[in-house]
Amino acid sequence: MERIAIYPGSFDPITNGHMDIIKRGLRLFDRIIITIMHNSAKQTLFSVQERMDMIKDSFAEEPRVEVDAFGGLLVDYAEAKKAKVVLRGMRAVSDFDYEFQLALMNRYLDREVQTVFLMTSLRWLYISSSIVKEAAEFGGDVSLLVPPPVHARLIEKFPLLS
Ligand code: COA
Repeated sequence: MERIAIYPGSFDPITNGHMDIIKRGLRLFDRIIITIMHNSAKQTLFSVQERMDMIKDSFAEEPRVEVDAFGGLLVDYAEAKKAKVVLRGMRAVSDFDYEFQLALMNRYLDREVQTVFLMTSLRWLYISSSIVKEAAEFGGDVSLLVPPPVHARLIEKFPLLS
């Protein structure tokens, strides 16, 4: 049976930290579906379409990665895609409380879905989409923190970056 994992998040935008989790996830799973999901606590800089395009461009050479968007519950999406695994990255202890809560809620909603955590590489431990956007807004060089298609879009949004 094909091993499919869903990698959900807001990806506003995708960073090298996410890329690292996905690349390592591809060693464990046959296929990874990166799904842009709604987080009610967040206002986004990029539209869903822009975020999907940036992810697709970043994985143009990887046929085992699929990109999608979904507005409902993660467990419903996993069921529709016949995926039994949700992949998440864990950066530091500060992520633990939230991730624990999310994984337990998902298990409460659907006992068939398992959450698998991969530890983020030390190199990317300190980055998040917000911190990258903040640096970019004020002209900070973030070119080593995001894939090239994301850097190009950040330049379009933030003139100080070019
Ligand atoms: N490297 C770098 N940064 C990382 C990272 C990594 N490996 N992993 C996470 N991050 C960052 C993200 O960039 C993001 O930064 P930001 O807060 O500055 O935007 C932050 O960590 C957490 O984001 P992410 O992991 O993308 O999670 P999220 O909070 O955006 O996503 C959902 C949460 C979308 C998965 C969750 O809200 C969800 O499942 N929603 C659907 C509804 C649902 O089913 N809810 C659960 C049951 S009620």
